[in-house]
Amino acid sequence: MLNKNIVWHDHCTTKEERSSIKDQKPCILWFTGLSGSGKSTIANAVESRLLELGKHTYLLDGDNIRMGLNRGLSFSDEDRIENIRRIGEVSKLFVDAGTIVLTAFISPFQRERDAVRALVGEGEFIELFIDTPLAVCESRDPKGLYQKARKGEIPNFTGISSPYESPRKPEIHIVNDNITIDDITQQIIDYMKEKEYLHA
Ligand code: ADX
Repeated sequence: MLNKNIVWHDHCTTKEERSSIKDQKPCILWFTGLSGSGKSTIANAVESRLLELGKHTYLLDGDNIRMGLNRGLSFSDEDRIENIRRIGEVSKLFVDAGTIVLTAFISPFQRERDAVRALVGEGEFIELFIDTPLAVCESRDPKGLYQKARKGEIPNFTGISSPYESPRKPEIHIVNDNITIDDITQQIIDYMKEKEYLHA
């Protein structure tokens, strides 16, 4: 519960000023999809491209955040909700700092993704659905986790024993099968240029 003795402090430097010196419109590129769908790989490639364009970015990644800030959270529905809530709040701070934030979390529930969208301003949340068929993720199985999950060694595994709700209206929908990472990256950069995120 919020302590009633805590009062919000307004700062004199604004988000607009922080963004303007970076010559960009801050936003969250929210990648969602199954484990092994390619979220982190694509987010990494997009971040590199944005850096080449002189943009200021930060990438928050599921496995890494779960080793630090969210260490101790499990994969129960309740803990996944808390995982995404914290990431949403951190992302909001980065947006306030004028940064283009990229996040790569399964984020399986529509309600939690919508809650993050509601935390930031209009146009500041870009939902990217990395839509890779379960069979493809499972055949790639880069971390060997699907094999373990099928054997019953990992409880609550997304797509196997825990649900994944596909985004209803993502800004960007990518079927990551028979397409190169370069092509996907270009598609995302084109979207950002067209919607004028890459200049203040
Ligand atoms: S989320 O559902 O809470 O958004 P998050 O993206 O942080 O998940 O973490 C997913 C990563 O944790 C997966 O890519 C995988 O490497 C690992 N992982 C470990 N256990 C599970 C599980 N039960 N379900 C899904 N991913 C798991």
